[in-house]
Amino acid sequence: MDNLAFHNPVLLKEVLQHMNCCDQQTYIDATFGAGGYSRAMLEAANCNVIAFDRDANVLKFANNLQQKFGERFRFFNNKFSQIDEVLKQNQIDGIDGVVYDLGVSSMQLDDKSRGFSFDSDARLDMRMDQENPLSAFEVVNEFDQNQLTQIIKDFGEERKAKLIAAKIIQQRSKQEIVSCKELADIVRSFYKGYHKIDPATKTFQAIRIFVNRELEEIKDSLQQSLSFVHSGGKIVVVSFHSLEDGLVKAFFKKESGDDVSYSRYQPIAIDDCQKKNLKILTKSAVKPSDEEIRNNSRSRSSRLRAAIKL
Ligand SMILES: C[S@@+](CC[C@H](N)C(=O)[O-])C[C@H]1O[C@@H](n2cnc3c(N)ncnc32)[C@H](O)[C@@H]1O
Repeated sequence: MDNLAFHNPVLLKEVLQHMNCCDQQTYIDATFGAGGYSRAMLEAANCNVIAFDRDANVLKFANNLQQKFGERFRFFNNKFSQIDEVLKQNQIDGIDGVVYDLGVSSMQLDDKSRGFSFDSDARLDMRMDQENPLSAFEVVNEFDQNQLTQIIKDFGEERKAKLIAAKIIQQRSKQEIVSCKELADIVRSFYKGYHKIDPATKTFQAIRIFVNRELEEIKDSLQQSLSFVHSGGKIVVVSFHSLEDGLVKAFFKKESGDDVSYSRYQPIAIDDCQKKNLKILTKSAVKPSDEEIRNNSRSRSSRLRAAIKL
């Protein structure tokens, strides 16, 4: 089975350029998916790759790579916020680089039964891993109006969040909102006419981010990666929306000492001023080429940022 038939790795050339894999070194692929990045890194050099994915459905792709690359490749069905725990358990005390390809995979979006896609009659779910106790169904049918408004506003940046939340409450008072399509239709009812991007996109993104605690995962994991990457190692992150990209940008800025503002009214400790753990390699985020967008429309909103550990 060809892995790449399922998920087109985004910004792959740029990821490899920044990772610059070398023989005998060990890299983490924090979001394995169908293994596009892992495979490319293992082919680029005689290196080792440790891959993480919270979704057990990717095990088949991991087994493929294990067969091809043997001990050079290891897979952990864990969240990337568990990098610290997993590396310590396996007595791995340092790595030479980490790459993240955030968000959901094409396999997750396209498998209607996972409850991510707008036009599906499948039950609302959106969990990246089935261990997660909370699904989109509970959020939509049990959370109160204020909580729903906040989630849709904060994680979807949806300006009609209040109206959408009110309609969810109204509709579910008659009957539970079960399918993805029912939720999408509620959102669409506030956006008449033709839209290039489905109006349900922001609300679905918001609920998905909340259900999977995606932003907390990123914050925790970047901090852990920083502590495991050897000096000279890279942290490379591909993100898909402004909330993710904003977190990455802020983390890189803080760790590179970029956001230290001097004020005679609020003097800061000398140690804080001198704390520089990273050097940013991408002055502004790297975007996909027109050709990549033509070949893979899902790459459209991707952004890459990279930094090197000092
Ligand atoms: C965009 S896909 C990665 C695709 C991959 N680069 C490839 O080439 O096939 C994102 C993957 O990351 C996983 N993922 C998302 N958040 C995660 C987290 N916090 N911990 C571990 N895996 C996560 C998802 O389950 C999904 O399989």
